[in-house]
Amino acid sequence: MLNRSISLFILLSFAMAAQADDKPELPPFHHIVGVKPSKAIDVPEKFKLGEQGELICATCHGLKDIDKTPVEKVDKTAADFLVGGGYRKLTGFCYRCHDEKKTQRDNIHVMLDEHGEIKKKNCTFCHEEVPDRDKDLKLAELKLRLPMQQICYGCHLKDPHFNAVEHQVEPAQKEMLERIEKNSKELGILVPLSEKQEVLCVSCHTPHQYGVIDPEKPAGKQVLIDDLEKGIEYQEHPWDKVFAADKEARLVEFNQQHKMNVQFSYQRITQEALLRLPAKDGQLCLVCHDFKD
Ligand code: HEC
Ligand code: HEC
Ligand code: HEC
Ligand code: HEC
Ligand code: HEC
Ligand code: HEC
Repeated sequence: MLNRSISLFILLSFAMAAQADDKPELPPFHHIVGVKPSKAIDVPEKFKLGEQGELICATCHGLKDIDKTPVEKVDKTAADFLVGGGYRKLTGFCYRCHDEKKTQRDNIHVMLDEHGEIKKKNCTFCHEEVPDRDKDLKLAELKLRLPMQQICYGCHLKDPHFNAVEHQVEPAQKEMLERIEKNSKELGILVPLSEKQEVLCVSCHTPHQYGVIDPEKPAGKQVLIDDLEKGIEYQEHPWDKVFAADKEARLVEFNQQHKMNVQFSYQRITQEALLRLPAKDGQLCLVCHDFKD
């Protein structure tokens, strides 16, 4: 089942490569088009197929003439960008046609079994061999399959949530680097940066379930969650203020233009997972940011 999820992504990129020469130009990693759905795919009424029953642009996109619009001009924030609109997660859209149960991915971050023993198989998704948890290992000794900058991308989007992309840069000010060093030492946490001192997914997230790494060690200090399988729970979005400010202007414009009154609902996390410090009360943010300046 898990292999299937990985091949899903790999397939997706191969599908793109094969299509590179065809018109119209599609963005990289785009979904396959022009094929007739097999029996495995259940396309709902709402998704209009082409004359031969094949996937066309309008099957998935509500925007008029999307195939004649340059990729960078396409308004991805439009309600009708994806047919049915307003999906909180992209996978919600995928499951309109693909079978959710068959494509559901095992959460590889659930690394401990019911006896608290590690599931060794899970380690080797990222480490060439299972690291010795009793030793103090240097980065090279961890034998990561990919550099830390890329290790999450086989399975996650580069843009998994609001503000993730904006963060994968080198701090603009040297003071931030000093703050990170000072705060992480004082708090006893690990905040890995790239060789070029860029922020990474793993600067904020730990890949390991709580307890895989000794919680007394900096790499093992992280937010405790009782049920990782259940994952993150929301009420409102954690980035709500930033998100609202960023989107509001565009939303107002959209509503005026389309004579509509679309509202976003912002959610706040009630149960956090795989974070080095809680973010909902700002602790994580303050490791790097000094919002007083
Ligand atoms: C409108 C229905 C529809 C939606 C929505 C949809 N797909 Fe598909 N997908 C198809 C069809 C049809 C195929 C062709 C394979 C088949 O018919 O079995 C396909 C094939 C694929 C393939 C295999 C590509 C190949 O080269 O064989 C992948 C991977 C895939 N989809 C992923 C996704 C993902 C990820 C999403 C959400 C972002 C998604 N699909 C949304 C209908 C859909
Ligand atoms: C099976 C569904 C499906 C079909 C068919 C489809 N798309 Fe898409 N398209 C998607 C999904 C899913 C995304 C990515 C949404 C995201 O990542 O937020 C997307 C994204 C895009 C984007 C925005 C890319 C970006 O990153 O800015 C463009 C442009 C686009 N599609 C054009 C087309 C065109 C042109 C066609 C017809 C030739 C087409 N699509 C057919 C599902 C589809
Ligand atoms: C999703 C990728 C991923 C998986 C799966 C994974 N690791 Fe790691 N591991 C990393 C990365 C990245 C680092 C370096 C950053 C850090 O320590 O958080 C690391 C660091 C470590 C370290 C060094 C911690 C320290 O004290 O510095 C140990 C030990 C370790 N992993 C053991 C394991 C074990 C055991 C498993 C399986 C149960 C496992 N890892 C699964 C990505 C992964
Ligand atoms: C590991 C360090 C680190 C952590 C943790 C961190 N940030 Fe950042 N943040 C950065 C860096 C680096 C930038 C890029 C701009 C800069 O260098 O000042 C940035 C930029 C931002 C921006 C501006 C984004 C833009 O569009 O330009 C906002 C807003 C922000 N962070 C909010 C947060 C919030 C909220 C949290 C906590 C959930 C957080 N950050 C946690 C390092 C961090
Ligand atoms: C082999 C695939 C794989 C790799 C590699 C991987 N993940 Fe995941 N991750 C998953 C799956 C599967 C889930 C479960 C939810 C889902 O399907 O999106 C998940 C969930 C998460 C969650 C949400 C926690 C939850 O329980 O909902 C976070 C945060 C996360 N991953 C961060 C990372 C980071 C950071 C890395 C890189 C160090 C990484 N992942 C690497 C497959 C992977
Ligand atoms: C600046 C800190 C920061 C960075 C950098 C960051 N994240 Fe997150 N991420 C968060 C916070 C905060 C949450 C929400 C709370 C939680 O995980 O419990 C989150 C949530 C997630 C989730 C769960 C989303 C959901 O809706 O279930 C995934 C998956 C994830 N991150 C993956 C990644 C990946 C992959 C990267 C790198 C491309 C990344 N994150 C970079 C802070 C960050």
